[in-house]
Amino acid sequence: HAGRTETCSLPAPLPGSVSSAGGNRCVDAAEACTADAQCQRLRSEYVAQCLSRAAQEGCPRARCRRALRRFFARGPPALTHALLFCPCAGSACAERRRQTFVPSCAFSGPGPAPPSCLESLNFCQRSRVCRPRLLAFQASCTPAPSAPDGCLRDQRARCLRAYAGLVGTAITPNYVDNVSARVAPWCDCGASGNRREDCEAFRGLFTRNRCLDGAIQAFARGWPPVLLDQTASLCHPDCSAVARSWLTATSTSQVQVIL
Ligand SMILES: *[C@@H]1O[C@H](CO)[C@@H](O)[C@H](O)[C@H]1NC(C)=O
Repeated sequence: HAGRTETCSLPAPLPGSVSSAGGNRCVDAAEACTADAQCQRLRSEYVAQCLSRAAQEGCPRARCRRALRRFFARGPPALTHALLFCPCAGSACAERRRQTFVPSCAFSGPGPAPPSCLESLNFCQRSRVCRPRLLAFQASCTPAPSAPDGCLRDQRARCLRAYAGLVGTAITPNYVDNVSARVAPWCDCGASGNRREDCEAFRGLFTRNRCLDGAIQAFARGWPPVLLDQTASLCHPDCSAVARSWLTATSTSQVQVIL
């Protein structure tokens, strides 16, 4: 990123604006992505892949997941993370957040019942795409016993990056409902027999993880400065467009549904 160091200061959102008054920040995040050519292109690609009806049964899941991985690998982290971790107060926002990464194709299915988490784990460990990402997630998000809120300070950003890195793998996580910020991969431990403990330990990395929860909450507390600061530090050619969009999104009640 050596060529992206010129400064670009973005104005703070107006006090009392929609965002600071608890409006739909997932819509704000979507608008910021739309205003950024790279973010918008990568998102259009995964939406096209994940919603295409090319495959006979269900969706072309492998292509959908590859496009999602590309979104997080190549998109500006300030914008991709804002879409993934936008904080919500109401269920309309949370439902939108849950639907953002096309869970019907990338996350759940093909059957109505989720597989055993041990099956998903086993599959992931044998995949050269999934395995290193899971190891990174474990290394970055495992709660630090000495830290009062789960993560050491510099661990939070790494944890969120590692979590985002799992989107588009065999253990793609997502929000499980529209009334909480709980996340999990599409799997359960109901039929794991005498390996139930192993299964619950793995699932608990998502569902009972103080570091991950704390990192997501910290991202919310840092909003919008997180978005603004990271956008400013990236300062790609569309920076001013992002700034404009951010101001528009936060100073008017204009909403635009993209997905
Ligand atoms: C929240 O989820 C429930 C259950 O899936 C659904 O019936 C409801 O319509 C959702 N709410 C919103 C605002 O989408």
